[in-house]
Amino acid sequence: MKVDVLLGLQWGDEGKGKVVDVLTPRYDVVARFQGGPNAGHTLEFAGQKYVLRSIPSGIFQGDKVNLIGNGVVLDPALFKAEAEALEASGHPLKERLHISKKAHLILPTHRLLDAAYEMAKGDAKVGTTGKGIGPTYTDKVSRNGLRVGDILHNFEAKYEAAKKRHIDILKSLDYGPYDLEGMEKAWLEGIEYLKQFHLVDSEHEVNRLLDEGKSVLCEGAQGTMLDVDFGSYPFVTSSNTICAGACTGLGVAPNKIGEVYGIFKAYCTRVGAGPFPTELFDETGEKMCALGHEYGAVTGRKRRCGWIDLVALKYAVMVDGVTKLIMMKSDVLDTFETIKACVAYKIDGEEVDYFPFDISEGVEPVYAELPGWKTDMTGMQSEDEFPEEFNAYLSFLEDQLGVPIKFVSIGPDREQTIERYIDEA
Ligand code: GDP
Ligand code: IMO
Ligand code: MG
Repeated sequence: MKVDVLLGLQWGDEGKGKVVDVLTPRYDVVARFQGGPNAGHTLEFAGQKYVLRSIPSGIFQGDKVNLIGNGVVLDPALFKAEAEALEASGHPLKERLHISKKAHLILPTHRLLDAAYEMAKGDAKVGTTGKGIGPTYTDKVSRNGLRVGDILHNFEAKYEAAKKRHIDILKSLDYGPYDLEGMEKAWLEGIEYLKQFHLVDSEHEVNRLLDEGKSVLCEGAQGTMLDVDFGSYPFVTSSNTICAGACTGLGVAPNKIGEVYGIFKAYCTRVGAGPFPTELFDETGEKMCALGHEYGAVTGRKRRCGWIDLVALKYAVMVDGVTKLIMMKSDVLDTFETIKACVAYKIDGEEVDYFPFDISEGVEPVYAELPGWKTDMTGMQSEDEFPEEFNAYLSFLEDQLGVPIKFVSIGPDREQTIERYIDEA
C-alpha cells in the first residue's frame, strides 16, 4: 500500500481540515506530519463547527487511527485543552489517537522566544502565530530539543536544562517581563495528560499498517508557499510543508507516496507578513474577505485577500508532485462579474511565468480575465449542475496547471463537496 498526501498549495488555510474529514471514510489512518498548533483546521458538519490544531482531522469519522507523526511539534498545554474539548463534545480519542515519541515538545519558553525574536525583528516581523513554532524547530535542528518520548524518563532534569538555556537567551534579548510560572502550570499538567495516550514509534507503526494493507492519508498543515525551503522566505513557517515533508515527518519512504492531493482556494489569501503579488487593496479584496469570512482560525487575524496566482500554484504543483487538485471556496466568487487569474509576473518590464528567487519587490501580476458564473452554487449536488462559466474556469485552471481538479468545495459544510468524474485512463 501507498500513502496519499493532502496539502495546501498556497499560504495556508485552503480548507485542508474540511477535505481531510470528507476523505477520511476512504482511509484507515489519518496522520499529521509537520507543523503544530500554528495550524487551525476547520470542519463543519451537522450544524457544528470544530477547529483542530494538533489533532488530525480524521478524528470525527468512525474508528480510524489518527496519528501525530515525528515531524510535528506539540504543545502539551494546548494539546490537553484541544483533546479535552473534543472529549467533552462526545468525541473520545484516547484509544484512537497515537502520538510519535519522536515528535518535539514546544516548551513555554519557546513561546516566549517566539515573541522575543519577533520583537527583535522590528519592522521585519514574520507575523508568526506566536505558538513557539520557530524556536522549537530551531532546537530540534540544533540538537537541543525535547521529544515526547523524553517525558517517560528523567524528564525534569532535561526540562530544567532547556529552560535555563532559553532564559539566558531571553535575557540577552532584553525580553520581559513574563509570567513563566503561570505558563508552566498548564504545561506540566499537559505533560501528565500526554502520558495517558498511546506514545508510539510511529515510523514502525505506519510501515506496519501499510504492510498489512491499510490505507493512510497524510494531512499537511500550512501551505507550500510557507515551506521553509521553497516558500516566500523568510516569511515562512519553520517546517517542510511540501509533500517530501510527509516522508521525513512520518518515516515513509518516497517510493511509498501514492496520490498527492493539492488543495487551493478559487482565489488566494495570506495571514501574517510577507510578499503576496496578487493581493488586493480595494473593495474587491474586501468583498472576498467578507464573503469568505477570511479571519484566522487560530489568531482571529484578518486574512489578506487577492486573486488566484497561477505562477505560484504551478510552482507548488511542481515541488509537491500533485496528482489531483481540489478547489475550495468557489462559492465566495458566486456573485463576481469577472474573475481574474494571474498567469505571469512582470519583473523589470519582462514577463516571466516561473516563480523567481525573490517576489518581495517589483513583481507585477499579469492577469487573464474570465466571466463570472453569477449563480448561487452552494446547494448544488453534482457537477452536472455547474454553470457553463464555472466549468470554463475549471478547464482554464486545469489547462494552466496540467493536473485535473477532482473535488470542488461550494461551502464550509462537509456535505458541500462535489467529486468530479475524471477520466483516469
Ligand atoms: P485549513 O487550515 O486549510 O484547514 O483551513 P481553515 O480552516 O483555516 O480555513 C478555511 C475556512 O474556510 C474555514 O473557516 C472553513 O470552514 C471554510 N471553508 C472551507 N471550505 C469552504 C468552502 O468551500 N466555502 C466556504 N465559503 N467556506 C469554506
Ligand atoms: P493552517 O494549517 C496560515 C503563517 C503565520 C506566519 C508564518 C510563520 O491552518 O493552514 P509560525 O507561527 O508558523 O512560525 O508563523 O506562517 N502560518 C499560517 N498561515 N495557515 C496556517 O496553518 C499557518 N501556520 C503558520 O501567519 O506568517
Ligand atoms: Mg487554517
